[in-house]
Amino acid sequence: MALTSHDPASQTWLLRTPASAYALRWDGSSVRSVHWGPPLTLEQAATIPVRPDRDDERTGEEFPVRGGHRFGPPSLDVVYPDGTAAVEWHLAGQLLDGGRLTVALADRHYPLRADLHYVVREGTDVIERWTEITNTGPDPVEVRRADSAAWTVPWRDAYRLTSVSGAWAAEFQLQRTPLPVGETTLTTRRGIARGQGNPWVMVDTGDATETSGEVWSTVLAWSGPFRFDVRRTHGGHVHVAASGAHEGVTIRLAPGETWRTPSSLGLYRADGFGATSRSWHAYARAHVLQHADEVAPVLYNGWEGTWFDVNEENQKAVATIAAGLGVELFVMDDGWFGRRVDDHAGLGDWWPNPDRFPDGLGPLIEHVHGLGMKFGIWVEPEMVNPDSDLYRRHPDWVLHMHHRHRSEQRNQLVLNFARPDVAAWAYAWLDDLLSSNAIDFVKWDMNRSFTEAGWPTADDPDRLWAGHTRAVYDILDRLRATHPHVRVESCASGGGRVDLGILARTDQVWTSDNTDPVDRIAIQHGYSQVYPAIAMGSWASDSPNPITHRAAPLAMRFHVASAGALGVSGNLREWDAGALDEARSLVDAYKRVRKIVQHGELHRLANGTTTVVEYVSADRREAVVLAWRPSMAWATPQPPVRLAGLDPDVEYELVGTAETYSGAVLMGHGLDLALPPGPDASRMIHVRGQ
Ligand code: DGJ
Repeated sequence: MALTSHDPASQTWLLRTPASAYALRWDGSSVRSVHWGPPLTLEQAATIPVRPDRDDERTGEEFPVRGGHRFGPPSLDVVYPDGTAAVEWHLAGQLLDGGRLTVALADRHYPLRADLHYVVREGTDVIERWTEITNTGPDPVEVRRADSAAWTVPWRDAYRLTSVSGAWAAEFQLQRTPLPVGETTLTTRRGIARGQGNPWVMVDTGDATETSGEVWSTVLAWSGPFRFDVRRTHGGHVHVAASGAHEGVTIRLAPGETWRTPSSLGLYRADGFGATSRSWHAYARAHVLQHADEVAPVLYNGWEGTWFDVNEENQKAVATIAAGLGVELFVMDDGWFGRRVDDHAGLGDWWPNPDRFPDGLGPLIEHVHGLGMKFGIWVEPEMVNPDSDLYRRHPDWVLHMHHRHRSEQRNQLVLNFARPDVAAWAYAWLDDLLSSNAIDFVKWDMNRSFTEAGWPTADDPDRLWAGHTRAVYDILDRLRATHPHVRVESCASGGGRVDLGILARTDQVWTSDNTDPVDRIAIQHGYSQVYPAIAMGSWASDSPNPITHRAAPLAMRFHVASAGALGVSGNLREWDAGALDEARSLVDAYKRVRKIVQHGELHRLANGTTTVVEYVSADRREAVVLAWRPSMAWATPQPPVRLAGLDPDVEYELVGTAETYSGAVLMGHGLDLALPPGPDASRMIHVRGQ
């Protein structure tokens, strides 16, 4: 079966994936969406009439422009030098090559071209799209908006919108609402997503569940500003326009220049939110993450242990305790450089603080390696404290505007990475840090939003928005090429920069600064809608929790963190022998099942009083069930939980017990979780085929 095909008679193109089909058509003046849903052949798709326009409005376009009877958000908004701001296309060409389709459009009169790119890959239902806008004329063209893609959701009786919102320490809160007629915008103007949102939306028919129902999801593989316009008309048209910019960002496209948008990816599943998530996870592991075949090490991160108070002696002491727990990677967090003793100074001065590390980082790294662990280090390259040597030397390197305050957040300003000299400086010191020290892991943090986002010396200052993100990508790509053994964690005050763009050049993310296991259940639930467990950094930390002040048993803290890439934090020097022993055995237990968690398929089995997630190995021979019940009213029914994804004919043992059950029983009847009574009950159950 060809991944892409074309029917010249009807001018229809078809993209085929294992469980879906996506068809589009040139109708003589624009490219129209024909079908996005269950599988169809090209011959079948060619028979589908394009949906008629309603209310005198042209809808259902793959890339709506301004002009004509179009009243929705334009995916392309350009102003030609003579002031004309409407576009009229002719079909300038097409290219089909395996899983690639490019439809080339050119303005009928003005020298402008738009190439709509589509990519489908074997074995995935995800369709990747992006657009390239080229100025083929001699004068600049003002581009006010250029979306990655507009996705038309087919005609159904009802629609519901799912996305995540949040805040610092409360990222990935799932919100699901009926989709109103009108335009619903999900956007960030902060330069990056931060905790307030994440670049994806899902539309379903209002009745989808974890295991059933049609779901159309679209994401942006992009870590910069974003905007999703979800439009529903009274006449029943729904489309999602995905843009890697917020409103009001204008680019002057130079003669001969091509502007490439970030990629937007779309996925249709007929079988619910669970299958949707599994498809995204599989896609991320196969086509985004570069080391998804590895297992993420158990790390210790000192942030919740020593905070800014790091020095050679205390880090060595903590590392020794961490190694005793079975930790494999020791990460030193903030506070090791410049005059950084709190958050008032030092960002930008990336050399070891001589009072804290008189002999540099070498002795600590040797100590950590000597304990059999890898060594990781925290950096925040995009930031500068005004109280730093760097800022005193280069006050013009930050985002700023003439005659305006430079608004600080956490006493820091944002370096303008769109400036080639600033990006070159950042690459140089990072490369030097990694070349002169045996560093195995970098935690790249980013702790504030853009404000006064100006670039006074630039002709085209709005380029800083996309330029900043592209420079971060470029630096990470080059560092990974030069230091291929180094693994990278993306952090932005927790889960503020989690997307398929950053995951293409990092290995895991710091999901949230909130390590309270109860809060974390909701955060992980939202994270898991699109992103895979292998990249979900989760720490078991101190109790009471430093942010929420809630106390929780050690087992609960570890069991919740075991749903991703397990880490440990907290002040280990104050953990008593009993806690350290228990932690060691919980780390051990995680290591025995982590391949299933990190490489397996996620089934969210329950999300009520008790939350239950299950990871199933690719060969269906093993599964891990994690169950968490923070609190429960007395006498609340606790029915058996029906597992998923197993082989009904295989007999499975519950490892560590004498119990065995067939897959048919575990899936058809269910498993009694036998959670201990009382609050904060949790269990990890390893299910293994015999
Ligand atoms: C914010 C991060 O989310 C934390 O984990 C920690 O690295 C601090 N920054 C350090 O300043």
